[in-house]
Amino acid sequence: MAKQSHNHAQWSSRTAFVLAATGSAVGLGNIWKFPYMVGESGGAVFVVVYLACIALIGLPILVSEWLLGRRGQSNPINTMETLSRESGRSPNWVLVGIAGVLGAFLILSFYSVVGGWSLNYTWSTLTGDLGRSSGVAVGDYFEALLKQPWTLFIWHTLFMLLTFGIVAGGVKGGLERAAKWLMPLLIVALVGLIGFGTTTTGFDEAAAFMFSPDWSKLNGGVVLAALGHAFFTLSLGMGIMMAYGSYLGQDVDLIKTARTVVILDTLIALAAGMAIFPVVFANGQDAGSGPGLIFSTLPTAFMEMPAGTIFGTIFFALLTIAALTSAISLLEPVTEFLEERTSLPRIGAALVAALATWALGIAALLSFNLWSGFTPFGLSIFNLLDALTAKFMLPLTGLAAIVFTAWFLDSDGVKQELGLGSTGRVVWHYVSRYVAPIGVVVVFFTSL
Ligand code: PHE
Repeated sequence: MAKQSHNHAQWSSRTAFVLAATGSAVGLGNIWKFPYMVGESGGAVFVVVYLACIALIGLPILVSEWLLGRRGQSNPINTMETLSRESGRSPNWVLVGIAGVLGAFLILSFYSVVGGWSLNYTWSTLTGDLGRSSGVAVGDYFEALLKQPWTLFIWHTLFMLLTFGIVAGGVKGGLERAAKWLMPLLIVALVGLIGFGTTTTGFDEAAAFMFSPDWSKLNGGVVLAALGHAFFTLSLGMGIMMAYGSYLGQDVDLIKTARTVVILDTLIALAAGMAIFPVVFANGQDAGSGPGLIFSTLPTAFMEMPAGTIFGTIFFALLTIAALTSAISLLEPVTEFLEERTSLPRIGAALVAALATWALGIAALLSFNLWSGFTPFGLSIFNLLDALTAKFMLPLTGLAAIVFTAWFLDSDGVKQELGLGSTGRVVWHYVSRYVAPIGVVVVFFTSL
């Protein structure tokens, strides 16, 4: 994205942009979080509501964030400052940008802990520690890991160091180019796991669990979880997509591009579910066991399949890389914020941002062991950080972005910018003004 036009850099091509946006969107949210949320929230009911949230709320908000960013040509805070001034609205809209930076900081803190798990699993699958030499059964490895604050600390630190190194060292572009090859590999690995799943006795049950809804399981909590996850998985409500949009050229078709990113992200999540649940059911494991789901399930599969050690190592390495491409996108807004608001040079800003998130991450990892008794609002620190961001901050910030776009920008200009035909205009009008915002508000208030 080096090409200079006017005074703000631009992506070198649409492909470079799609890769960076997909790199941010596809990560632990798809492979770690989605399956365990499906498992906790009643299976297919969650999947159906999630798909509806993605299509009716996530997609239009993604388009809005890119559009705002492209118009503002700056970081989210400055963008909201400029656009609210230009359209004669309250300067308080800048809060959207600020909430985004704060959200990114909070998410990265616990994201890095999970990235650390993924790194640990890559290593211990490779060395055979997982299951054999450690003296812990594969299925119990995760529980045992959570009880060791030092081990969690070391891997969390390592993950954060990698993230910092990439952001500070300016090798982001390189990583994004690498993602071009690694992303398809991740998909191949998931398809391979699904293939393995078909050989187990749990495949049919898994398919029914994920795609045949039992509506009696539907409730406000499930809907809010699905909505929050739609934001999380598409990296919405954090100014990240807005920042990416600021580097976009006028010629890029936002709707078409958003569709590509959303479809990829969704397919990867669904594939992850179909990779994991056959193993869960074939081994009589608990689908609703929470955040440890993939970590206690997949190693069982790797133990059973031929060349499982190699395959397992590759799988967790790919997961770690997908997590890193998301983590760098989370560190970026905090870094940029510090760089612009303080006198710190870029590397110093990245260091302060990384240190602060790392420190909060320590609190998150301690909540699995030493601090497990400390549960403000009935949640552990880890779960609190997750709930606060996914269920409150992201939906509200995303709501603000779409309300601003749909109601406060020149609506004809927006429709033209989106290249909409006559039907498209009507659909965009109703979806962006009513369906998406009302959807967020209704879900939000009914589930409180
Ligand atoms: N979307 C990423 C994932 O699904 C997580 C993420 C959230 C990244 C918010 C950036 C911002 O893993």
